[in-house]
Amino acid sequence: MKALILAGGAGTRLRPITHTGAKQLVPVANKPILFYGLEAMAEAGIVEVGIIVGDTAGEVRAAVGDGSRFGLTVTYIPQEAPLGLAHCVLIARDYLGDESFVMYLGDNLLREGVAELVASFEKQQGEAAAQILLARVPDPQRFGVAELDGSGEVVRLVEKPAQPPSDLALVGVYLFDARIHDAVRAIRPSNRGELEITDAIQWLIDGGHRVRSQILDGWWKDTGNLDALLEGNRLILEAIEPGVEGLVDGESRIEGRVVIQPGAEIVRSIVRGPSIVGERTRIVDSYIGPFTSVYYGCEVVRSEIEYSIVLEESHISDVRRIADSLIGKQVEVSRTERGPRAVRLMLGDHSRVDLF
Ligand code: G1P
Repeated sequence: MKALILAGGAGTRLRPITHTGAKQLVPVANKPILFYGLEAMAEAGIVEVGIIVGDTAGEVRAAVGDGSRFGLTVTYIPQEAPLGLAHCVLIARDYLGDESFVMYLGDNLLREGVAELVASFEKQQGEAAAQILLARVPDPQRFGVAELDGSGEVVRLVEKPAQPPSDLALVGVYLFDARIHDAVRAIRPSNRGELEITDAIQWLIDGGHRVRSQILDGWWKDTGNLDALLEGNRLILEAIEPGVEGLVDGESRIEGRVVIQPGAEIVRSIVRGPSIVGERTRIVDSYIGPFTSVYYGCEVVRSEIEYSIVLEESHISDVRRIADSLIGKQVEVSRTERGPRAVRLMLGDHSRVDLF
């Protein structure tokens, strides 16, 4: 079985971060989201992985390389425009051949991985043309939504319905056999101008093919917006293996599930878990609160940060307190005693600031 991982897309809901980088490479617990998906493929015994890339192809290639680090053989498949998930299958036709494959959305995070799912699809030997994974969500109108009959068979799938027929959202992991190729050729673009995989699966159902579904037990996050990203960070951190490899001075306190990565320095500070402090990051006279990931090469001085993600090489000083935030790369946040008492900003396009 092959895998098709989708790492194109514009990431509009995570602007301005995605003006300068791929949404799939935003780190969660100091590891790019995409790497969790690649690890899940390797764990499921898959070796050949095709990655669909768009405008951020260069960055994705630089991060993932040939895949050997994950025990994978990666092939990049460029998509000229984000024309939908079914379009990704369409352009991957030659790569996929007639093999069954797992399609995985590169911005999705799920606790359980995909090993069991892949194994069960292989075992059923073509009885079903597709297998989908569903999760109960409070906001189904944001997702593809499934309607099941009394026996749990999928009867209908709708993409982002205003009136959802159920609270069962399509998780971004799908298993297909070669019949999906006819489906993606047959469907037409949706109202948002995309070839929807949801419509392609509906086409299979309408043609009398079986589509199996399974309701997910563990958690799942589509990290495409800020709230979901921070929640994904929380969920990963809650299960992280604690360990201190950096330096912690005698005046600092490390509480609970905390990772201090090599070369990090904690000086006169409190780091309260679950949290992670990245390589070569310095935390001085500060408080790093629960559910916080500070990536590499940062400096946090006389500041407090909680329930947040800070990307690489950012500097934060004299700020009490940053919460529920995503701070980009090489950002500077500081306080000055000079000049009028005012908030001075230099913000990128589509930045969001909440003041109190
Ligand atoms: C896509 C799919 C949707 C699915 C979701 C899962 O939505 O179209 O059916 O529920 O991924 O993450 P998108 O992220 O393109 O809005």
